[in-house]
Amino acid sequence: MEIFKKTSEMQSWSRNEKKQEKTICLVPTMGYLHKGHLSLIEQGKKESDKTVLSIFVNPTQFGENEDLDAYPADLKKDLSHAEELNVDAVFLPSKDEMYKKNFQTYVELTNLPNHLCGFSRPVHFKGVATIVAKLFNIVAPDTAVFGQKDFQQLQVIRQMTADMNFNIKIIGAPIIRENDGLAMSSRNSYLSNEQRKSGLCLSKSIKKVKEMIRNGETDAETIRKKINKFIGGVKGAKIDYAVICDPETLANVKKIEKETLFALAVKIGETRLIDNELITP
Ligand code: PAJ
Repeated sequence: MEIFKKTSEMQSWSRNEKKQEKTICLVPTMGYLHKGHLSLIEQGKKESDKTVLSIFVNPTQFGENEDLDAYPADLKKDLSHAEELNVDAVFLPSKDEMYKKNFQTYVELTNLPNHLCGFSRPVHFKGVATIVAKLFNIVAPDTAVFGQKDFQQLQVIRQMTADMNFNIKIIGAPIIRENDGLAMSSRNSYLSNEQRKSGLCLSKSIKKVKEMIRNGETDAETIRKKINKFIGGVKGAKIDYAVICDPETLANVKKIEKETLFALAVKIGETRLIDNELITP
């Protein structure tokens, strides 16, 4: 397994693989890998001849009061996971390598960030779109895999890829959960045992919404109110949003008539958790 810290090394590796007519799949991550990340790598391996894993905690997607400095890391473990899964190359740039002095060019979407996580994380998607565009230019993959766990991010990347004419197939991979339903996340490591129990309110909310819709409820506001009330009663939980929206535009829907997205973000203490599911009535 190759490990590249320099952009130029990563680029020349990709160029060389392409000369040999190999297809490349990129799996971008911020490290501290869990089974969710590993499932993306497995998916990537099915899609192409060579798999590149990138590990980079991207500072531009963190707001001022967010957890950039506390973001968990275990590079040794990440690399051993990558090795076990036969990843071909790991791209491991430093902050200075990705954001050179005088860096000033960003990729920003006009509409998709004005929903869901965009309100409480105003710089987040600009940072994500910028770093992913840079990774696409450096690795030049044929396909790239992203998790549906970050549904809005996946839509942002699909849109950015189309808008910027990247000739890259974007694959959305299903959410991997712990046995009790908690969506896997590097940030789950911040939770105490008690908080982890409270964190189950996200997947429980999804269950409740599905049940309400199965029982014939079509009014999104009624469902939203019930979920707000439920989460309001969970110890240490503070709701950021719980919405039923159009999966393409992410705009709220009033009546649930076709496939819709239920998405929510909840703070458990200082830890912000997200979850979602596409629901067909
Ligand atoms: P990170 O949070 O490390 O996630 C990397 C990828 O793993 C993302 O595509 C995310 O959706 C996916 N993922 C996380 N938890 C998952 C789960 N439980 N099941 C399935 N997939 C899961 O998302 C980022 O990093 C960054 O924003 C990044 C795209 C790398 C840009 O910096």
